[in-house]
Amino acid sequence: MSPYYHTFALFILLLSLPSFPARILQQNDPLTELTADIQNNTWHAFVKFLDAGKGTQVTGMSELKKYFQRFGYLSIPDQNFTDFFDQDLESAVLSYQKNLGLTVTGKLDDETMNEIMLPRCGMSDAAHDHTHSSSLLHTTKNYAYFYGRPRWTKSSPMMLTYSFSPNSMIDYIDASEIRSVFKRSFSRWSSAIPVNFTEADNYSTADIKIGFYNGDHGDGEPFDGVLGVLAHAFSPENGRFHLDAAETWAVDFDDQRSRVAVDLESVATHEIGHVLGLAHSKVKDAVMYPSLSPRTKKRDLKLDDVEGVQALYGSNPNFKYTSSLEHDMSSSKRRTSSLKWTPFFGMVALVFSLCL
Ligand SMILES: *[C@@H]1O[C@H](CO)[C@@H](O)[C@H](O)[C@H]1NC(C)=O
Ligand SMILES: *[C@@H]1O[C@H](CO)[C@@H](O)[C@H](O)[C@H]1NC(C)=O
Ligand SMILES: *[C@@H]1O[C@H](CO)[C@@H](O)[C@H](O)[C@H]1NC(C)=O
Ligand SMILES: *[C@@H]1O[C@H](CO)[C@@H](O)[C@H](O)[C@H]1NC(C)=O
Ligand SMILES: [Zn+2]
Ligand SMILES: [Zn+2]
Repeated sequence: MSPYYHTFALFILLLSLPSFPARILQQNDPLTELTADIQNNTWHAFVKFLDAGKGTQVTGMSELKKYFQRFGYLSIPDQNFTDFFDQDLESAVLSYQKNLGLTVTGKLDDETMNEIMLPRCGMSDAAHDHTHSSSLLHTTKNYAYFYGRPRWTKSSPMMLTYSFSPNSMIDYIDASEIRSVFKRSFSRWSSAIPVNFTEADNYSTADIKIGFYNGDHGDGEPFDGVLGVLAHAFSPENGRFHLDAAETWAVDFDDQRSRVAVDLESVATHEIGHVLGLAHSKVKDAVMYPSLSPRTKKRDLKLDDVEGVQALYGSNPNFKYTSSLEHDMSSSKRRTSSLKWTPFFGMVALVFSLCL
């Protein structure tokens, strides 16, 4: 069980004490403001399922089941989903909560509904191999790979080329700015592993093919308009890398004031992780966590991302742990040692870690 879970469970427990002004706190939550403000984004309508209990029926619940099916939490092919909150839906909610590092309640509580409605990557959370989420070693590894652990297999030193679709770009950001965003995003990964990325002029022969697409764009994974799914990329050695053209992409939030603006560099960095073979992580801070709030940056690789990609490709000989990664490392050690105290000193450790 993850130490995040313990800490978060206690936090939720505190929140739910009757004297604690939980509802007032939530009104200051940026997401609550966001969803109250924007009535039109994908998945906003799911807000009506908040606190729906098992055994009840709410019109449109089948859409929520389709959501869980799409992201790998329900696997009943060709089922005509009903609007009943049934056993299958409860199991889906449980594994969703577990997989995203939420409090595992099996209920459509605030935390869960907030996470469900956040914009996210279109890749399924399930199509991967969970064997790396183990606490047998002293650190918990939460990164994951696609089924079969595919990776690029070119001979070393490995060089991958990328190119932008000549016909499927957005016009409100300069091409040169987009190119520098991607250059920086690729370089974060290449600093960790012995793989170089270079931009190629010839799109048709590039290893990684990047483009912005609207709605159904021919690969069976249609985009869905404002927010909802932001982007998707294929596992190795496919190289297709697609962004939803309906998003308001931003390079700098000072220039792009829209409330639904999405940080291009954060999404680019996440999708490159998929291109290289990483699936979704359950570490909330990791670049490979599936969701990303609007107007939020999450560009820097975390320890979980680095360890995941280095286990696939090895380490770049010049790789250096930055101070933020070192901080990441020492806090994961601290969490691991507090785990060992449980169950005897678990509560003490929890209260202590809340104060850190
Ligand atoms: C919702 O968003 C779509 C696409 O951005 C737009 O065409 C439509 O007019 C919007 N509807 C409302 C009610 O705002
Ligand atoms: C799903 O619905 C269609 C049309 O309503 C029906 O023909 C089909 O038999 C249903 N499938 C299942 C598995 O219930
Ligand atoms: C990759 O980049 C490094 C550093 O820039 C360089 O030393 C190395 O030769 C490059 N490898 C290839 C295959 O280009
Ligand atoms: C790209 O490469 C392909 C295959 O080598 C070639 O047929 C095509 O002419 C090239 N396109 C350009 C624009 O150079
Ligand atoms: Zn993803
Ligand atoms: Zn696509």
